[in-house]
Amino acid sequence: MTDARRPLIAGNWKMNGSATFATELAQGVSVGAPGVLAELLVCPPSVLIPTVAAALNETVALGGQDCHAAESGAHTGENSAEMLKDAGCGYVIVGHSERRTDHGETNEQVCAKAEAAHRAGLCAVICIGETDAERDTGKTLDVISAQLAGSVPAASNAANMVIAYEPVWAIGTGRTPTNDDVQEVHAHIRAVVKASRGDAAAAGVRLLYGGSMKPENAKGLLALADVDGGLIGGASLKAADFLAIAASCP
Ligand code: PGA
Repeated sequence: MTDARRPLIAGNWKMNGSATFATELAQGVSVGAPGVLAELLVCPPSVLIPTVAAALNETVALGGQDCHAAESGAHTGENSAEMLKDAGCGYVIVGHSERRTDHGETNEQVCAKAEAAHRAGLCAVICIGETDAERDTGKTLDVISAQLAGSVPAASNAANMVIAYEPVWAIGTGRTPTNDDVQEVHAHIRAVVKASRGDAAAAGVRLLYGGSMKPENAKGLLALADVDGGLIGGASLKAADFLAIAASCP
């Protein structure tokens, strides 16, 4: 990690919480935030974003978990990037594997969502990662390359994108790749960004690891040369665990 890349610890709350739970969690994170050097981001379910915006202090960033590619219109059940921005968000996660699996989202759709994020002035947290079967058959780096080629908008740069490497088989399972495997994939991602978008983008883009990151394994993962933070699911639902992960950043 270089000084240019301030670590980012992002909480993906997924479909969890109530207004009371979200308020308490946001307050808990806010209280601890000044004590950590990393940038903190929480991504609650969209219906709870206003509640969380009111409960957070200015030291914690707010993000959505997904957005539609269009600015507005007849898209029942969806939220636009502009709506997230209006609600106080600075980030939006796009292409999470649960969206790719549950909703059949393609790389092209993920790219359009990331472009929508940029249009609205949000930083897109673009998620990529291989399945168990793809890793077992030695296809991990090819899958990562294809997802990067298809999901990352041409106009992406170090300021408007974060890339989250989340092996599908590590999400919510308690299993993680070895630190060497994570570093290998992150170095590959940075090399692909360098080849496609140049030195400045590669040197500045923040690459997060996600998938069963918790206080017990965070230190080793976050110390890796090309890991600039984490995207945390389960462990982001407890303020103490989320803050402990953030405090593990070198
Ligand atoms: P997990 O989820 O930390 O619960 O494995 C990570 C994610 O899906 O972003």
